[in-house]
Amino acid sequence: MDRRFLQLNKLFSIRVSAIFFALIVLLSIACRKDKEDTPDGTDPPPSHQPTPYILELPEHFSIIFGPTLPEDNPLTVEGIALGKKLFFEKKLSATNQISCASCHRPESAFNDPGKAVSTGINGLTGTRNAMPLFNLAWTPTFDSKFNWRGSAESLEDQALEPVTIHFEMGETWPNVVNKLQNDAMYPPMFEAAFGTNVIDSTLVVKAIAQFERTLISGDSRMDEYVKELLNLNPPGSSDLTAQELRGFNIYVSTAKGDCFHCHGNVNLRNPLWTDFEFRNNGLDLNPDSGLALVTKKASDVGKFKTPSLRNLVYTAPYMHDGRFQTLEEVVEFYSTGVQDGPLTDPLMADRGFVNPNLTTQEKADLVAFLKTITDTVFVNNPDFRP
Ligand code: HEC
Ligand code: HEC
Repeated sequence: MDRRFLQLNKLFSIRVSAIFFALIVLLSIACRKDKEDTPDGTDPPPSHQPTPYILELPEHFSIIFGPTLPEDNPLTVEGIALGKKLFFEKKLSATNQISCASCHRPESAFNDPGKAVSTGINGLTGTRNAMPLFNLAWTPTFDSKFNWRGSAESLEDQALEPVTIHFEMGETWPNVVNKLQNDAMYPPMFEAAFGTNVIDSTLVVKAIAQFERTLISGDSRMDEYVKELLNLNPPGSSDLTAQELRGFNIYVSTAKGDCFHCHGNVNLRNPLWTDFEFRNNGLDLNPDSGLALVTKKASDVGKFKTPSLRNLVYTAPYMHDGRFQTLEEVVEFYSTGVQDGPLTDPLMADRGFVNPNLTTQEKADLVAFLKTITDTVFVNNPDFRP
């Protein structure tokens, strides 16, 4: 079947499930109201009632498709506030010195800038470049996977991992739960968010995932241009320069950059700059296992999660192992360095060229375009600071 159709189909099913979910929420609110109103008071309202939180979506995201929010972990004001506290909480690590935010810094689009691989407790280093965190709620739920190699199925599952990885936070969950339970601040916050002051790892990761779903980035100069393309803004209202527009044309041109097949095409209504798929973009002839570590399929060797192209100015170095220091190096790779191995994605290898050999001008234009998807409002948002 046509990929584009598949993609639209996916988006459609997400939208349907979002509407269905909203209906269930509305119905359950309506039912609860009925019970509270019954004069005999047989079913008193629960002692706690967290406040539902409605995500505020960028205008051009809301007409495209909805975020997918799990039914067993609805967003609430109290849950998000708790999740934020936990995200910045160093007690999640064995040394009480590393929090999620140590590697995912809000001022760097929740990435750790300048590091090829992350540094965890006691200066230990891992093997992967930290991933920036934004627009995670748009990961399609039916095949959602997190981390470069797709080792987690949901944000809740994902948040379980770093705590126990020895070179990240190096702690055990029973210890974390103990520390939080004995911190006077936390039990009342869990009570407010989840109706119990008995803390467990499931509630910790639920709260963190709620906070992560609020990290929305959709306010760059490129977003203004996307709104223009979608007729939400008047024609000619965005301020992209001639060079940046040339770069965008290289991005969408099948004869030049041909980037959009994997990093999203705003003309096909994808402003997230990734298709969320796992792919081998031809970095190495003998690639690292990647997704195959999880799926055990030989055909998945060398496949990594296609990263979003938002906020790249904050997230150098680039790729799963941080091998490229600059966007110029990345673009040079796509221009002349792609390896045409047996496992290289057909979208790289079968497009009439493996390496398009862009001119110096075209490479500069492409880099200029990539920098337009920089969301300074997101990285300065006070809601995302401790
Ligand atoms: C020592 C640094 C470090 C710490 C601490 C850390 N992370 Fe990460 N994070 C990473 C790295 C590196 C990756 C990529 C991991 C991989 O692919 O194996 C990552 C990946 C992720 C992803 C996947 C994003 C995506 O798009 O798939 C999420 C979500 C995330 N981290 C959230 C968290 C949370 C929540 C915490 C705290 C509980 C945390 N991280 C703690 C370094 C860190
Ligand atoms: C076949 C799919 C595919 C195509 C086509 C493609 N990319 Fe990528 N891109 C990926 C994947 C997969 C990664 C991550 C690879 C890894 O780290 O192993 C990536 C990584 C990147 C990164 C690094 C981002 C980061 O956070 O580290 C940039 C920048 C990038 N691509 C830009 C481009 C540009 C510009 C083009 C067009 C010239 C392009 N890509 C074409 C799949 C693709």
